[in-house]
Amino acid sequence: MTTSSLPEILIHLDAGILTLTINRVDKKNSITAVMYAAMADALAAAENDNAVKAVVIQGHETIFSAGNDIGDFLNKPPSTQDSPVFRFLRGISSFPKPVVAAVCGPAVGIGTTMLLHCDLIYAGDNAAFSMPFVNLGLCPEAASSLLVPQLMGYPRAAEALLLGEPFSAETALEIGLINRIVPPAEVSALAQQQARKLAAKPLSSVIETKRLMKKSNAGLVAACMADEGDSFGRMLGEPAAREAFSAFMQKRKPDFSNV
Ligand code: COA
Repeated sequence: MTTSSLPEILIHLDAGILTLTINRVDKKNSITAVMYAAMADALAAAENDNAVKAVVIQGHETIFSAGNDIGDFLNKPPSTQDSPVFRFLRGISSFPKPVVAAVCGPAVGIGTTMLLHCDLIYAGDNAAFSMPFVNLGLCPEAASSLLVPQLMGYPRAAEALLLGEPFSAETALEIGLINRIVPPAEVSALAQQQARKLAAKPLSSVIETKRLMKKSNAGLVAACMADEGDSFGRMLGEPAAREAFSAFMQKRKPDFSNV
């Protein structure tokens, strides 16, 4: 059953699996405020819907997401913690049921940081991860300033977050960000297959196991996300970020030569 009214976020429920597909390929699946709102609403509804046992998030075989829509950053920056992007991030970070991600092509900014809140992640060999917040005059979000150092150790986190250096699917596998690399054409099917396995298990056991694995970090994640959100919101209006966004919009792209 497909329930989305927004073409850029396709929402499909089948056999207990709610699949959210980011579908704005012409803009490299960059995410606008209405798209965050659609995903946040879908997660909030799924949380209490007994028909949903697991969620899959996917993009396209060529692009997972180029991150936040930069035009939105320039013209409609998220101004409060209730903004759709922050609502989405809180929703995915505290979502009690399992979330499986299928990632192909570039995963930039929130395209990478949202994965820190997914439970199983399958990637195409074309996946490329990057968190170029500093290059854009911004700071980390999605509790990535906490979770990235926890995941990969401080030195590698510094390369990823201070230098904004991208990393490949192989590196993501090595550091434990993702579960498996397969050809791009197989990623979506693999994510569905794993989600079906989850959906076949007793839901209460799955939810309780996820809660227990996450509980020691949950308070830290929420506090970190709120702290980052305040800084991020302020920095969006500062000159370094405004210049970087304007440059992108005028096709004077920020230097991602090593992306
Ligand atoms: N926001 C808004 N539009 C975006 C976008 C974004 N984050 N990323 C890409 N687009 C748009 C481009 O403006 C372009 O639009 P146009 O066809 O109307 O000119 C279209 O998507 C294609 O992008 P392009 O850069 O030509 O594709 P590419 O294959 O050469 O590069 C990326 C793909 C993802 C590497 C590159 O688009 C990129 O670096 N995007 C910005 C990522 C970013 O900084 N995100 C914010 C992180 S906080």
